[in-house]
Amino acid sequence: MLVQSLLVERFSQAVKQLGVENAPVPLSKSTKAGFGDYQFNGAMALAKQLKKSPRDIAQMILDKVVIDDIADKCEIAGPGFINIHLSTSWLAKQLQLANTDSRLCVGRQLPEKIVVDYSAPNLAKEMHVGHLRSTIIGDAVVRVLEFLGHEVLRQNHMGDWGTQFGMLLAHLSDKLADNQVASTALSDLEDFYREAKVRFDNEDGFADRARDYVVKLQGGDEQCLVLWEQFIKVSVSHSEEVYEKLNVTLANAHIMGESAYNDDLAPLVDDLLTRGIAEEDQGAKVVFIPELADKEGKPAVYIIQKSGGGYLYATTDLAAIRYRCGKLNTQRTLIFTDARQALHFKQTEIVARKAGYLEETQAYQHCPFGMMLGKDGKPFKTRTGGTVKLSDLLDEAIDRATELLSARDLAHSESELTNIAKTVGIGAVKYADLSKNRTTDYVFDWDTMLSFEGNTAPYLQYAYTRIRSIFRKAGINADSHEANISLENNSEMALAVKVLQFEETLLSVAKDATPHTLCTYLYELASLFMRFYEDSPILKDGVLPEQKGSRLSLAAISAKTLKQGLDMLGIETLEQM
Ligand code: ARG
Repeated sequence: MLVQSLLVERFSQAVKQLGVENAPVPLSKSTKAGFGDYQFNGAMALAKQLKKSPRDIAQMILDKVVIDDIADKCEIAGPGFINIHLSTSWLAKQLQLANTDSRLCVGRQLPEKIVVDYSAPNLAKEMHVGHLRSTIIGDAVVRVLEFLGHEVLRQNHMGDWGTQFGMLLAHLSDKLADNQVASTALSDLEDFYREAKVRFDNEDGFADRARDYVVKLQGGDEQCLVLWEQFIKVSVSHSEEVYEKLNVTLANAHIMGESAYNDDLAPLVDDLLTRGIAEEDQGAKVVFIPELADKEGKPAVYIIQKSGGGYLYATTDLAAIRYRCGKLNTQRTLIFTDARQALHFKQTEIVARKAGYLEETQAYQHCPFGMMLGKDGKPFKTRTGGTVKLSDLLDEAIDRATELLSARDLAHSESELTNIAKTVGIGAVKYADLSKNRTTDYVFDWDTMLSFEGNTAPYLQYAYTRIRSIFRKAGINADSHEANISLENNSEMALAVKVLQFEETLLSVAKDATPHTLCTYLYELASLFMRFYEDSPILKDGVLPEQKGSRLSLAAISAKTLKQGLDMLGIETLEQM
């Protein structure tokens, strides 16, 4: 249900009748109790145009607008706002419809083909905390887009082909020559990388061998490829473990790493050269970008091939665009990386558009995110200053949740406790991240994220469980409870309005790739549910049967919305905690 769009439609009709074509119809959720549920605030602008007082204009609009079926009351306030109080019976009816619909009355959008490029770790090392944000924000956006009916193509653009592979391959080949098995040699990728780096920096001749390996690898040498594949296999299985722990929807089939574009790079550079988009400059092949000139007017330089012949991150990204927008014919591409890559994607887009790899109708959206910081405000590190492995971080989350839950001393069996701790621990880490506006840095703090109070996963998971337990106590199936709803007090009204804002929220997440909007929504929903439950007892003596039925329906739709929302964030719910 799109309440706001419906209201905008009605007000547009009214404004048109004042003789103004295409006037904007600013209408938003009311921010203060007493100002109704929605507010129209377009009278002031129209007043200037029509040379009348804003309040007069507001009155004229009120005389014209057809809204009696949706609103109980519309009143003019202040300089000329129109406060809209939605109709109690209309709201109840909409809720009832949502409660009996498996999609909660969320419509399907005209389907678009959308590439979502996320997670994309560099395979030289194990996944570390820096990969958390891309992985879970991207996954939440994917789930929302799919729920809304879009065709999503997940692309895990793994860094599996860069120059560091020469170093790793040289080191691996020595280990295998010593009769070691690849999986043992690579059992700890961090150690392996470190060992290789030490040799690269200190050992005579090793760096040269490493460089030879890169050239051989990129040239398709069989033996190199065999080594490389072993390395990739171990590395990918590490990331699979992390994906599994994190409950994200990425699978092997979504891997489309840098190496997948190797054969396209030479033809791509040729194409850009022959068409005069790229040129040779000091031995390298470059595209000059006057649109991004510096203060002196010197154009930005975008290198697509180094003077030694090597290709770069940029070349691969252009090839990826050609594949996605040309072959897959995608209408929109979303890429989730940290904010430091913003310039790279800006340049890439300009070049790709110039080359026609990206058509005007095809959107290319880099979705940047800020850093995860420690409590000291510096980048999040281990106590000794090392990078935190993602899988260690997730294990710690589960351990902490186990400790917390054990202290609450609820009668759970060992296996129940294990399951609850996993759901709460992982949920807490994910939610703490997803609930922050992605563009800013945020402080990673165990105590806040694991709290059962405030805007946290445990709070929302608990709210859900609580509703489910009401139904258990009542001996009623929450999924099939469809009793008539009648809204009797302000808390019930507020909850009803919030439930009906679910679809609007999802649309905004889909448009701006901002899962935090969904988090805020769910938190407000859960808080309004708690208030409703205080004001409108359900199972207490003295509650009339129709009241009980109606309140249970309100509880049921709240639970379904919470669950559906958390599900799209990749966060699990529990029947009992
Ligand atoms: N591997 C890159 C990194 O770790 C992210 C890749 C993002 N996607 C892309 N098409 N460039 O920073």
